[in-house]
Amino acid sequence: MNSVFDVLTAHKSERSFTEQPVDAAALERIVLSAYRAPTSVNSQQVSLVITRNAQAREKIAAIAGGQPWIAKAPIFITFVLDMYKSRQAMAAIGREQIANQSIESIVAGATDVGIALGSVMAAARAEGLGIVPIGGIRRDSQAMISLLNLPEQTFPVVGLAVGHVDVPAHAKPRLPLSTFVHDEQYHTEGLEENIAAYNQEMVEHWQAIGRSDGESWSESVSGYYQKIYFPDVLSALLKQGFGNDK
Ligand SMILES: Cc1cc2nc3c(=O)[nH]c(=O)nc-3n(C[C@H](O)[C@H](O)[C@H](O)COP(=O)(O)O)c2cc1C
Repeated sequence: MNSVFDVLTAHKSERSFTEQPVDAAALERIVLSAYRAPTSVNSQQVSLVITRNAQAREKIAAIAGGQPWIAKAPIFITFVLDMYKSRQAMAAIGREQIANQSIESIVAGATDVGIALGSVMAAARAEGLGIVPIGGIRRDSQAMISLLNLPEQTFPVVGLAVGHVDVPAHAKPRLPLSTFVHDEQYHTEGLEENIAAYNQEMVEHWQAIGRSDGESWSESVSGYYQKIYFPDVLSALLKQGFGNDK
């Protein structure tokens, strides 16, 4: 893969890794790709915690509900929404950080985390490595906070398993491009038909790759969104000093 475009359009989440270590210089380049990323109001409200320790990766795999690829891949990176640094910068001149009490801060911080995640994923894949993002760490955010020794006004938003691919994944189909890109204004026409066709395409995709348990998109998304699937996030955010009512 040469161009940035090739790297991005060939994305797939890998869940089969060898135990081969990730080259230290490659990891440094990967991390630098996110270090230079933009952040809202230059708040620099993102930190990465790199977990190499095998026992800690086993713990993260369990926290995420039993995801064995986390323990197998040699590197796990946690993307932290981090308002501790700005709080300390303000304390240095005798001012108090208030913004952490607002939903806006969580939206802005999660956006910055997403930008960093995207950069790291692209850089890792450009290095010939495989990746899978892990939102499953929010299944027990408090356990991640303790494991990583995260200070107040920080929150582990998402993780990323990085390693050499063993058995490559299959590219997963998407809804048609017309449901993704809108011209001037958002349009809903045709969505019902597009979803019906995509449901069929997903069932055929799972059959083609030998996954007899494969569901349509309507079914698989229902599996998550029929409930609040990580209900402990709010209490962990509040405990860390974030707010949800402003
Ligand atoms: C923020 C985020 C969190 C995710 N969390 C998990 C996870 O916990 N475990 C997992 O196996 N995949 C996870 N994924 C991967 C998605 O399941 C995957 O992107 C989606 O099924 C589309 O497949 P693809 O990435 O192979 O195209 C996550 C992806 C994102 C962007």
